[in-house]
Amino acid sequence: MKREQIRRLFLHFFAVMAACILLTGVKAQAQIPSLKTSIINGSAETDMKGNPINAHGGGFLKIGNYYYLIGENRQKNVLVSCYRSTDLINWEFRGDLLTRSSDSELKNANIERPKVIYNETTKKFVMWMHYELSSDYSYARAAVATSDDIEKPFTWLKSFQPLDNMSRDCNLYKDTDGKAYFISSTRENRDMNLYELTKDYLSIKLKVGTFWVDAQREAPAIMKRGNYYFILTSFCTGWEPNQAKYAWSESLSGPWSGLKDIGSPTSYNSQPTFILPIAGEKTTSYMYVGDRWDPALYSNSRSIYLPLTFENDTTIKMDWVKKVIPNLATGELVTQDEPQHQFRIKSKWSGEYLSLQSNQSSTANVAAYKLGYLKPNLRWEIFPSNNELVRIKHVQTGKYLEAEENNQTRLSDEKKSDLQLWKEIRQKDGWSKLINKATGKALTIERSKNRKAELLYTSDYSKEYDANYDKQGFLLAPVYE
Ligand code: DGJ
Repeated sequence: MKREQIRRLFLHFFAVMAACILLTGVKAQAQIPSLKTSIINGSAETDMKGNPINAHGGGFLKIGNYYYLIGENRQKNVLVSCYRSTDLINWEFRGDLLTRSSDSELKNANIERPKVIYNETTKKFVMWMHYELSSDYSYARAAVATSDDIEKPFTWLKSFQPLDNMSRDCNLYKDTDGKAYFISSTRENRDMNLYELTKDYLSIKLKVGTFWVDAQREAPAIMKRGNYYFILTSFCTGWEPNQAKYAWSESLSGPWSGLKDIGSPTSYNSQPTFILPIAGEKTTSYMYVGDRWDPALYSNSRSIYLPLTFENDTTIKMDWVKKVIPNLATGELVTQDEPQHQFRIKSKWSGEYLSLQSNQSSTANVAAYKLGYLKPNLRWEIFPSNNELVRIKHVQTGKYLEAEENNQTRLSDEKKSDLQLWKEIRQKDGWSKLINKATGKALTIERSKNRKAELLYTSDYSKEYDANYDKQGFLLAPVYE
């Protein structure tokens, strides 16, 4: 090869290398996600690097300008992780606080609902949590770990049953006088125990009380506003969401009010984990934080952030909002709502949700999905037509629910046909009948002979409650996304 040829080859090589480096740089830059401007409920949550946020069943702590979020991770070897944010919208991953290697007790453990508070006297961050073996929930223990630095690995101290009581779903509360409390579900989740902690926050000092005996409450979260304490809890339905309730009292030791409903019957598809006070120059707001669990893919679980509003000193309301923009300076929570288009359709009779059986693409069968709020197959869009009539579209296939003359139902392409028009008639118990415009018959559910699926058909509609009523009862439940 001549000298000139070699020179050109080198130049060419360097030009190509420079282009590659430049392009990779541009690509790497393009991958950095831009800052988010609001909390978007229901959407997949990612940190500032674009990775999923793994901090479920979590709690919050404010240190200086930072809000810290500490929660369950369950990815690979990790049990508890830490994130921080200056706006409660954009979160930066700061480290893993507990891993399976932190202590021999953690090799084979399941850690749930970790919460951290700071002890001014010992200058230590103290974490309390629910401890189980990975295999089941029979240990029913609380556990404690500490650290000098909120962002650094915690030192495992112990797992135990508080004053020999079973202890599952739990939370921590630090009062304005510096006293700290641990609350947990006990006696196989039948009751709730509240304990005062010792001055160093590392042990139980005494039991303050046992509340809501036999009410089967879990997922507790405590807040104080003015002269009143509030405890928010869920019912026990595994990973399925249910109606959250709250109680109030002027003292943590009670007497506590009865349990009052808050939010929708499914708590907008979430379960409480924390109530976050946001104190600003103008006001202090209180934000509900709940988990929308996905037990099939744990890291896909989401958090729901909803402002709590107060009708008076002891009455709380929680409405669904799609977006929340916290104003940390003033303490106000700005909200933006969006209309709900997608629904899950629940059968009163079976308690299950209408979906499409994969092997039968033309008929609208109901699969036995108990937990369905994250499954796309269970979503329907309801399109209002004239005269309170609706079309019901299966989101995944884009097909419409249609009645047939022979009482069968099927999913088919959109047509200008009364067979695809349904009227929702709300019954006195809140469930609805869906009446087909063409046939005048009501959507009805029936167990198939092989009991593998439930078939949808139409049958005679009666205005009164009849023997068939449950089979014709449906709930159009918004997916809250
Ligand atoms: C509901 C609890 O609140 C969760 O933390 C978890 O323990 C699930 N039950 C397990 O089914």
